[in-house]
Amino acid sequence: MIKPPSPCYILEEKLLRRNLELIRSVAERSGAEIILAFKSYALWKTFPIIREYIEHSTASSIYEAQLAYEEMGAKAHTFSPAYSLDNFDTILKYSSHVTFNSLSQIEAMREKMKGAEDVSFGLRINPEYSVVETDLYNPCSAGSRFGVTADELGDKLPEGIEGLHFHVLCEGEAEQLKAVLLSIEKNFPNALKEAKWLNMGGGHLMTREDYNVECLVETLKEFGARHPHLKLILEPGSAFVWQTGYLEASVIDLVEHHGIKTAIVDVSFTCHMPDCLEMPYQPRIRGAKSLEGQEAGNCYRIGGNSCLSGDFMGYWSFDKPLEIGQRIIFEDMLHYTTVKTNMFNGIPHPAIALKHCDGELELLRSYTYEDYKDRMD
Ligand SMILES: Cc1ncc(COP(=O)(O)O)c(C=O)c1O
Repeated sequence: MIKPPSPCYILEEKLLRRNLELIRSVAERSGAEIILAFKSYALWKTFPIIREYIEHSTASSIYEAQLAYEEMGAKAHTFSPAYSLDNFDTILKYSSHVTFNSLSQIEAMREKMKGAEDVSFGLRINPEYSVVETDLYNPCSAGSRFGVTADELGDKLPEGIEGLHFHVLCEGEAEQLKAVLLSIEKNFPNALKEAKWLNMGGGHLMTREDYNVECLVETLKEFGARHPHLKLILEPGSAFVWQTGYLEASVIDLVEHHGIKTAIVDVSFTCHMPDCLEMPYQPRIRGAKSLEGQEAGNCYRIGGNSCLSGDFMGYWSFDKPLEIGQRIIFEDMLHYTTVKTNMFNGIPHPAIALKHCDGELELLRSYTYEDYKDRMD
């Protein structure tokens, strides 16, 4: 394999196919359709691989909907917290399913809905089932702007609505899905009877090693048997590219102050691994041990190459002292990373490469000064 440029995100085809096989088998065994949430992963040059296993994707905006149409070759299942009158025609053009977040949005778009016979409209419900501990990722935190609660909905679906959508989990478990389905059956019985489809959102991390896949399949089958008129849809994102690739970077300086050693690298947490700071979580570094705090020996913080003071994380211990020029591999840096990067500080964006099953490295994209300049006037 040729040495990748530094920095570079590298997606491993073999690992992607392993996840896709599991996802396809869950869909086949459970009877639910599983579609890809672009918000988590949208490296469209790899869509031909993904299309071998699944047909559809979910979009959260006009651009994602257009990408679904152009690059997945199928209209999107679209949900956005709010559509504007200006962009709704574009949403309709590129979507097979459009889910509203509120009753007021249905009324605002009522006229436009009339002319869209080939689009199936849905409504996001909020089952108020709150299990996600980090508020930034909790769609059911108190006062959440997402979805209509059972109280607000009443016992009838609004006119023109034939689907229901909920999204309550983040890196969640099958057992949690089972519990949320029971609460929906209890709190939205009439809406469930009237609806033609139910989209169970994302957060189903079925490709994680210790995820209870059998429980997921059984839960979906049992729910499907209780509601045979409903088409069931799951729209995970992370599960598709969970542990399928990494970000390879280089050490470009080593500094030490008050006994704290920092390796400054040619990437940035805030630009290229934002969830590490947002979630927050400490990423795994290949060949290094993650530490709770500073220790003696070859213990380092890793510092990002931006001017944000908090653009560092600590601590990791390495077998040997780090050296300038040495490569550092941040594991599992595909989902929510490649879609969230930015060009803050004008730091060169990592290239993107696909490592094929035979070990060949294909460079999908590299970035230049023009990419930075073109984002601004
Ligand atoms: C509405 C909706 N669907 C799907 C997803 C994908 O979730 P995940 O990547 O955790 O599977 C999200 C994530 O925020 C979401 O908000």
